[in-house]
Amino acid sequence: MSGTLFTHPDRNLGMELVRATEAAAIRAAPWIGRGEKNLADGAAVDAMRKFLGTVDFDGVVVIGEGEKDAAPMLYNGEHVGTGNGASFDIAVDPIDGTSLTATGRMNAVSVIAVSDRGTMYDPSAVFYMDKIVTGPEGKGVIDLSRPIGDNIRALAEAKGIPVAEMQIAVLDRPRHKQLIADIRAAGAGTRLLLDGDVAGGINAARPESRIDMCVGVGGTPEGIITACAVKALGGVIQGRLKPKDDAERQKALDAGHDLDRILDQDDLVTGDNTYFVATGVTDGALVAGVSRSKGMIRTESLVLRSHSGTRRRVIADHLESKWLDGDDGDGS
Ligand code: FBP
Repeated sequence: MSGTLFTHPDRNLGMELVRATEAAAIRAAPWIGRGEKNLADGAAVDAMRKFLGTVDFDGVVVIGEGEKDAAPMLYNGEHVGTGNGASFDIAVDPIDGTSLTATGRMNAVSVIAVSDRGTMYDPSAVFYMDKIVTGPEGKGVIDLSRPIGDNIRALAEAKGIPVAEMQIAVLDRPRHKQLIADIRAAGAGTRLLLDGDVAGGINAARPESRIDMCVGVGGTPEGIITACAVKALGGVIQGRLKPKDDAERQKALDAGHDLDRILDQDDLVTGDNTYFVATGVTDGALVAGVSRSKGMIRTESLVLRSHSGTRRRVIADHLESKWLDGDDGDGS
């Protein structure tokens, strides 16, 4: 029966969700380098919302994005999908790297992560998290509570490479001055990220990348999104909430959070059924950005699924004529 086939639990929801990140990236692309961060984000949000509405699932946005700077967003608690099919939590970042997009810099991606309903961690609006991400070799080896130099040496040993070959991704922020100095003092190299620690974390977790570890304080939503990808890649993420002020600290304590607790991928996303999709907005090490040629728009996406362990790289050519104002790739 075709209906049974379509709702088969083994279908890869990621292959449908990727249309939403493709759409967000395509709509954001005209804003690359225009200095209009919120307009870029708004275009991506609208496109993502519209496409999510066509996917057969019952999604609730658990991790929305944008509250920290009043940017456009898909709201926490918003229902997405047709409402038919299985129930999921969804974390969205229509553009991770809005500033990268607005300034025309590399590594901006559009991202969605999904896991079974009720399995995503609720950070109670604590925006920042101290994080460490590695590939599978970091399992049982790294520990966020230890000095960065110890973690670098331990991971280098587990990978069987000299410390001097280790490349550590970290957001280039004043708050990371000491961390960056400590990484270099340990003998490793830094890959400073202007923005975008989702791509940084995933690059740390995937074996093909030259990044061995991604560390430092970044967004909590980005940490939970990264955890969904890490589960599919077999890597490790550890995070600890880092309230930015007393009010946020109190809010977190009132919500019952232990601020000393180190959360790993199984705490950030309980359950083992995760999907992660990312489409490049601008070119980057993870995926290529949106490009246009001869009436076609090309997108590149990564589709990860924990259940099967599949990692797909999806290159799609979209007819430009179908994406004229008012159209959304289907000619509607
Ligand atoms: P947005 O583009 O979604 O705003 O996030 C960019 C980003 O660099 C994230 O990747 C990172 O987790 C966070 O911002 C870091 O926050 P801040 O810029 O305040 O240091």
